[in-house]
Amino acid sequence: MEDFALQLKNITKTYPGVLALNDVTLEVIRGEVHALVGENGAGKSTLIKTCTGAVEPDRGKIVVNGKEYPAMSPRLAEENGIAVIYQEFNLVDELSAAENIFLGKAIRKGIRIDRRAMEERSAELFRMLDIAIKPRELVRNLTVGYQQLVEIAKAVSEKAKILIMDEPSAPLTNAEVEKMFEMVDRLKAQGVTIIYISHRMDEIFRLSDRITVMRDGRKIETIATSQTNVEHLVTAMVGRELKETYPARKSSAVKEAVLLETRRLSGNGLKDISFKVHRGEILGFAGLIGAGRTELAQMLFGVRPGTSGEIVFKGKPIAPKIPRDAINSGIALVPEDRKRQGALLEIDIKGNISMTILDRISRMSVVNKGREQKIAETYKDSMRIKTPDLFQKIKNLSGGNQQKVIIARWLAVEPELIILDEPTRGIDVGAKHEIYKLINELVENGKTILMISSEMEELMGMADRIIVLAEGRISGEIDRKDFNQELIMSYASRTEKEAV
Ligand SMILES: Nc1ncnc2c1ncn2[C@@H]1O[C@H](COP(=O)(O)OP(=O)(O)OP(=O)(O)O)[C@@H](O)[C@H]1O
Ligand SMILES: [Mg+2]
Repeated sequence: MEDFALQLKNITKTYPGVLALNDVTLEVIRGEVHALVGENGAGKSTLIKTCTGAVEPDRGKIVVNGKEYPAMSPRLAEENGIAVIYQEFNLVDELSAAENIFLGKAIRKGIRIDRRAMEERSAELFRMLDIAIKPRELVRNLTVGYQQLVEIAKAVSEKAKILIMDEPSAPLTNAEVEKMFEMVDRLKAQGVTIIYISHRMDEIFRLSDRITVMRDGRKIETIATSQTNVEHLVTAMVGRELKETYPARKSSAVKEAVLLETRRLSGNGLKDISFKVHRGEILGFAGLIGAGRTELAQMLFGVRPGTSGEIVFKGKPIAPKIPRDAINSGIALVPEDRKRQGALLEIDIKGNISMTILDRISRMSVVNKGREQKIAETYKDSMRIKTPDLFQKIKNLSGGNQQKVIIARWLAVEPELIILDEPTRGIDVGAKHEIYKLINELVENGKTILMISSEMEELMGMADRIIVLAEGRISGEIDRKDFNQELIMSYASRTEKEAV
């Protein structure tokens, strides 16, 4: 008989109006890497929350270490060595990396908290995982990528026997993802069982032994990774065949006219950034984590104004000090860390979408509810936001669907220049395709896009031109006809000395 680390039997979970899990049975073999895939809202996160006690199933059983439970509790999960890296971060911004790792389980010396010991132990963990973070660094000062690595270190420090990773790679760049893979391999070699959720097929095939596909709250199948391929999985996930990944644009929409130009823009770690983007162009930005891509976006949008240099927009210099300035000029930014910077969790979908356009849909300060509803409805359909209705609070949506709402909010502004920072991170294959189509439509209708992405394939599939940043400077620029992965990588890893 198979040795199972974890078995879920006939798990059902309903929320008002949503059957999140429908009689799901899942068997995880001890020591395997078991991937869990499915579209946004398929029930992946809910399923793993039943394993950790965060969600109590309506029906079904959970079997761990030979014992059967009607539901887990966080304590039971911990006793059974189940650790999880949630899709949403659980770090405390104002504490250091080390303090976060030992949150709730501080090392003590007598009655005093032994800071030194915690810092040393953290440093050791970081060394083992090959992560360049100082234990004393405040989490607030770390980029999203590094925060994620702290999450991983934290989970590993708990001596997990079963480690559940809910989209761990989403905020990481390629180099960091590789580091994380090595870590997964290492943990697997140590006998840890891993459940790995991801929307990225390359990762699924690189890491997993078996794959379970979910759709609409149901388990569709569990299959050995060696017995399947991407096409099969995608079809199982979306329930229909999906042809090309990158939809063709009718024709190049790029015009002669320059919409935005920066001249020697500096500040926030960036140095002498000078580039032009033309109307109707999709200009991609590639680079490693910390290269300054997000900082550049924030500078253009007035989140963090620069210290010197010029931004010329539609032929006139602008100096956005706050986002409202940028919005008024016709610039929108869909931020990278949408959860923190964007989603108003307690507000419903329609309110989240309309918040940027209230002026436009109001008369004498009274919001035209009909128009609000109609606009929200349009985006819900075009972006396939999975929800029973537009009155759902954002916090009740699945991770990917929350992101779609935030993207919809900024598209609703109908800006001339849209900056997309990692627009498809955490978004499923079907919805990605929808977003690509939407981006194409936008440029065909005369909009201009700056697109930051750590997925090189996506940049190469979508952009007309790619600018590569390294260490806060522009290290290269590549035209569509010359796109290739090695070239981008070599520019991205160029250091200052080599660039001269
Ligand atoms: N607390 C809640 N209240 C109401 N509905 C919920 C709640 N939590 C989840 N849901 C719904 O349950 C369904 C499954 O959500 P879940 O988060 O498990 O999806 P997922 O597969 O993890 O998606 P993603 O890939 O977007 O993270 C979704 O329709 C979601 O809106
Ligand atoms: Mg999820």
